[in-house]
Amino acid sequence: QNDIYTAGVHRRKPRVPTDFAELERRARRAMSARAWAYIAGGAGEGRTMTGNRAALDRWAIVPRVLRDVSRRNLEVELFGRRIPAPVLFAPVGAGSLAAPEADRLIGHAAAELGLPYIFSNQASVPMETVAAEMDAVRPGAPRWFQLYWSTDDDLVDSLLSRAEAVDADAVVVTLDTTMLGWRPQDLNIGSLPFARGEGIAQYTSDRRFVEIVAERLRTAVGERPEISLGAVATLISITRNAPGRFWKNLTSPQPRAAVQTFLDIYSRPSLSWDDLAGLRDRTRLPIVLKGVLHPDDARRAVDAGVDGIIVSNHGGRQVDGAISTIDALADIAPVVDGRIKILIDSGIYTGSDVFKALALGADAACIGRPHMYGLAIAGAEGARDVVADIIAELDLTLGLSGHTDVADLDRDALRRI
Ligand code: FNR
Repeated sequence: QNDIYTAGVHRRKPRVPTDFAELERRARRAMSARAWAYIAGGAGEGRTMTGNRAALDRWAIVPRVLRDVSRRNLEVELFGRRIPAPVLFAPVGAGSLAAPEADRLIGHAAAELGLPYIFSNQASVPMETVAAEMDAVRPGAPRWFQLYWSTDDDLVDSLLSRAEAVDADAVVVTLDTTMLGWRPQDLNIGSLPFARGEGIAQYTSDRRFVEIVAERLRTAVGERPEISLGAVATLISITRNAPGRFWKNLTSPQPRAAVQTFLDIYSRPSLSWDDLAGLRDRTRLPIVLKGVLHPDDARRAVDAGVDGIIVSNHGGRQVDGAISTIDALADIAPVVDGRIKILIDSGIYTGSDVFKALALGADAACIGRPHMYGLAIAGAEGARDVVADIIAELDLTLGLSGHTDVADLDRDALRRI
């Protein structure tokens, strides 16, 4: 926070805008129309996206005075690890639309800040590469893994064991995307990101996934001799070694088979609470359920023995007209009553937003689009600065509202207006 003011004194402009509206404008200019449609877009008429922000405005901070705020603490503990601020980088798939090797750059940014990066199951860079990058910046830098529950159990196991092998602190199971939402921006442009293979590196770098594609191709070769087995073998060896590069701009039937396979198996719409019980036996990692919005589901999550939830509407990308996450949090936190960790995301874009979420019972907040906008404008440094700015504003808001520790915030710090 001091740095940015010092820069201002010396008349240096910050690398990325320090307010969300300007950040969004600059990011739009920096991105292709296709990237903008996918990243900035929301479900339906955009009501959930707008609603997330509007609902935050209905909670007012009521500052206190004369309480010695000269020393402040933002540190929190999540799953046995202390992190410098209650902020995480949300999982964002198909990031290569915004910048080549997006996930590696974001990993770099997160490691510099010492904040957890949640690797997307639909990343553009395999998790092993991102983890190595993070370790180069800060050995053991915190990372989590986000899972979309595939229809193929062996693929789920493979992804989980890879997450364990890269020392993830937790697995986040995203439950609100068993099917892709109605997203007019993408539909109107007629090009879903995955069409060119963006966002499938986590799969194409996976031994089990490659096996599945190979099986399918073998069957196809049986039926269609014009696809040679040689081509299949080449495909398999190349995907194993250089998934990211291989997929760019390729239109031959083999990559299409991988994209099609990915679309067919990436998620399981039949998923139910019964499936969840099995997950506990399949990984030693803490389990966090993402996309919980109803207090009864939060209660079931506690009963199911998971370790945390993320109150999320997927950044307004799934159900148009869904409840805002800040209002959902206000209903959920009393039900959970401190028994498991509660995280929140969707429309949490400023330090003041994070403050409100903590006061309503969240342990931490995840940031999605803002760090992607920073990335599009100024690469890894841009992603880092956007999140550092949110934390700097949180620190100021904390002190200026008369508080010294994020752990002490409660509903008394707010009034519903
Ligand atoms: C996402 N999100 C997401 N979530 C997830 O669990 N796995 C994923 O692969 C993705 N992919 C993804 C791509 C893009 C372009 C966006 C914008 C979002 C949702 C993400 O984790 C988070 O819930 C929201 O981004 C939070 O909302 P804000 O901060 O973007 O408003």
